[in-house]
Amino acid sequence: MPANLVLIGFSGTGKSSVGRVLAARLDWPLIDTDELIVGRFGKSIAEVFRDHGETAFRAAEREMVATACAGRRQIISLGGGAPVDEPSRERIRDGNLVVRLEASPEVILDRLRHGPGAEDRPMLAGPDPLGRIRSLLDARIEAYAIADLVVNTEGRSVEDVAADILEWHQRELAVRPPCERSGQ
Ligand code: S3P
Repeated sequence: MPANLVLIGFSGTGKSSVGRVLAARLDWPLIDTDELIVGRFGKSIAEVFRDHGETAFRAAEREMVATACAGRRQIISLGGGAPVDEPSRERIRDGNLVVRLEASPEVILDRLRHGPGAEDRPMLAGPDPLGRIRSLLDARIEAYAIADLVVNTEGRSVEDVAADILEWHQRELAVRPPCERSGQ
């Protein structure tokens, strides 16, 4: 059976909120790689970028993706840039089911402006966040293409999105062979 259910997608597409509902419904732990990084450095993501730079952040992120993906029966919510790293992409796909959440750049910006942690998104700092979201989404087409399922979250409740994913997950578990992970 696929080991974990992994949520990927841009900031503001709902990974954390949908992840929380999925974890509660399946009674699986929710692992959030951003939270693991905050724990590792003892500071916020913005502070990690500011004090150590993006390279150090991405190195820690790769390590956290590997740690998270080594477990089983977990909901794993990844930072928006995690699948850009090729070795991480391999790990994410290896024996897991991958769901990409998506929304338009305008909706993403609106959610990030009004949601919690708006000040903690260093990738979107600068005078033109909408342009930045668009160009990052373009640059990440290949990274996000690893998903087994794509769910648009615009105008939908977290519960609704989670229900669709759970239904799909049940069907996938029924058809996938028991052990698909390489080396196991
Ligand atoms: C990032 C997204 C953030 C966080 C970091 C970098 C990105 O996670 O990992 O600020 O590169 O898109 P969320 O997707 O949870 O906002």
